[in-house]
Amino acid sequence: MAYPDTRMRRMRRDDFSRRLMRETSLTTDDLIYPVFVHEPSGRAPVPSMPGVERVSIDELLRVAETASELRVPALALFPVTAPEAKSLDAAAAWDDEGLCQRAVRALKARFPQLGVITDVALDPYTSHGQDGLVDADGYVVNDDTVEALVRQALSHARAGADVVAPSDMMDGRIGAIRVALEAEGFAHTRILAYAAKYASAFYGPFRDAVGSASALGKADKKTYQMDPANSDEALREVALDLDEGADMVMVKPGLPYLDIVRRVKDHFGVPTFAYQVSGEYAMLKAAAANGWLDERACALEALLAFRRAGADGVLTYHALDAARWLRGN
Ligand code: PBG
Repeated sequence: MAYPDTRMRRMRRDDFSRRLMRETSLTTDDLIYPVFVHEPSGRAPVPSMPGVERVSIDELLRVAETASELRVPALALFPVTAPEAKSLDAAAAWDDEGLCQRAVRALKARFPQLGVITDVALDPYTSHGQDGLVDADGYVVNDDTVEALVRQALSHARAGADVVAPSDMMDGRIGAIRVALEAEGFAHTRILAYAAKYASAFYGPFRDAVGSASALGKADKKTYQMDPANSDEALREVALDLDEGADMVMVKPGLPYLDIVRRVKDHFGVPTFAYQVSGEYAMLKAAAANGWLDERACALEALLAFRRAGADGVLTYHALDAARWLRGN
């Protein structure tokens, strides 16, 4: 059917018909809020992430209250470890009295209905800032790291985490964690696998926030995180993680990787999440601060784009703002 029988602008003419033909939606149900938790009392700003703060457990409860009121389904916790608590063996990661574990217990005691997701990876706890244990050459060794990750995930589950989210990219860790959770009576603890996590430069502000940037120095994570050039490899990673027992899979970073989100969703049809990472947030904030972009409009557009690409939900530092904006709509 050719013009003028077909006029694409007819349906765009009025708000009512635009609303009727809208294919995707963004709601508060689609948002997960990442929170940095630290040991000192109070809050401390993260300079490269305006509007984001590291919070004490007391303040975390306030954040959780706000998230609950806004009906954001879940928080994702990222602990900031004091330099003296970091070590080569990352033992602080599975300390049942560790910051992360205490934070989970405090949250689940006060806000049982709010989902709590914990990060399973050793980088906050290693003195070298890598996500795993290293050998004499500094190479991150796979199987010993998986054993440590299992200890960490079990410790999170004991504290009451609803979802453990391995973000380390070791081979075989999903299966090992699943088996251990089942064996220890945590059949209901979900696994959100960072299945396709790329070795990205967009994580910079996050590493500042958790203090792993200085530990990592000039080193990178390319021997375990994926090459940004690859897409078929992401499907293999997702297939493995699902096979090993992942309940949800994640693609990370977000906006530059929406093609991966779409392929994963089309191919597997499983709960698929995307992480709009710290660098993406920082870019938008910087442009908005200069008056170059409209923060609210751009943030909501970007989040809707994740949904259009097939994401069931998005981890975003804009989650609370977006929930408020959506409520105002
Ligand atoms: C590390 C981890 C990283 C992020 C989440 N978990 C950084 C990294 O892999 O170096 C990045 C999140 C962000 O940039 O917002 N396990």
